[in-house]
Amino acid sequence: MSYKNIIFRKEGKIAKITLNRPDKLNALSPELIGELEKVIEEVKSDRDVRVLVITGSGKAFSAGADVGAMVEATPLQAKESSLRGHRVFRMLEELDIPVIAAINGYALGGGCELALACDIRIASEKAWLGQPEINLGIIPGWGGCIRLPRMVGVAKAMEIILTGERISAQEALQAGLVNKVVPEDKLEATVNELAEKLASKPPIAVKLAKNVIRKGLECDLEAGIGLENSAFSLCFATKDQKEGMKAFLEKRQPQFKGE
Ligand code: COA
Repeated sequence: MSYKNIIFRKEGKIAKITLNRPDKLNALSPELIGELEKVIEEVKSDRDVRVLVITGSGKAFSAGADVGAMVEATPLQAKESSLRGHRVFRMLEELDIPVIAAINGYALGGGCELALACDIRIASEKAWLGQPEINLGIIPGWGGCIRLPRMVGVAKAMEIILTGERISAQEALQAGLVNKVVPEDKLEATVNELAEKLASKPPIAVKLAKNVIRKGLECDLEAGIGLENSAFSLCFATKDQKEGMKAFLEKRQPQFKGE
């Protein structure tokens, strides 16, 4: 499939989506969100892909929802656009494979919310993150009010969302919003190395762990423990479990096959 607002590449087991409207700082227009939905479907149905990386071209990861496309929206249109973004970001979050956000620059508004829906965030030291919607007379509408407090705690999320001020990559690291900050020229190599590492892990166990972590955040402790218990026991139905444990006992590297 060909796309106009994104670049999609696959190299071995790693797929990469580059948001590609650099002159508009990769603002998430309705067309771009539509392409994101299609490409996530494409990744979902490709069993060879083990890791997805999302990044932006130019100086931004994404400066958020396209303000020009929203300025005259009615409440019903705003509701529709919010629901559409939620659906796409939820699809991303629910992929069976790990998703890494390579935050190369501004990740603001919907751009920050997109990064929040990824599993791991690596930022360039030049990146700035934030939810500036309040300055436009609105609130985050693609999950920021919901995912940000789960990630950085209520106090920090309140500060970020209510002030609308951008925070630096280093501040984001301190807040637990990003996993790692690296020099700009090391971002790609760092992300590739991490992606290769994740792609080498047993995919069924990766999928189960991701699923239990995500679902566990949405339920009470007892239900979470039940989920983990079921998924843990299911691992023992895989060849990769036997291989992983035998390889350890035989002091060799495991050869995982995803079975
Ligand atoms: N929606 C639509 N267009 C956007 C955009 C957005 N969210 N963010 C940036 N752009 C466009 C600008 O309008 C400008 O277009 P133009 O060249 O046709 O005028 C272009 O991208 C470059 O942006 P500019 O503001 O000139 O770059 P800058 O380096 O001076 O500032 C930012 C960068 C990120 C600080 C600034 O663009 C900004 O505040 N963007 C909006 C962030 C935001 O509020 N996001 C939440 C939206 S709900």
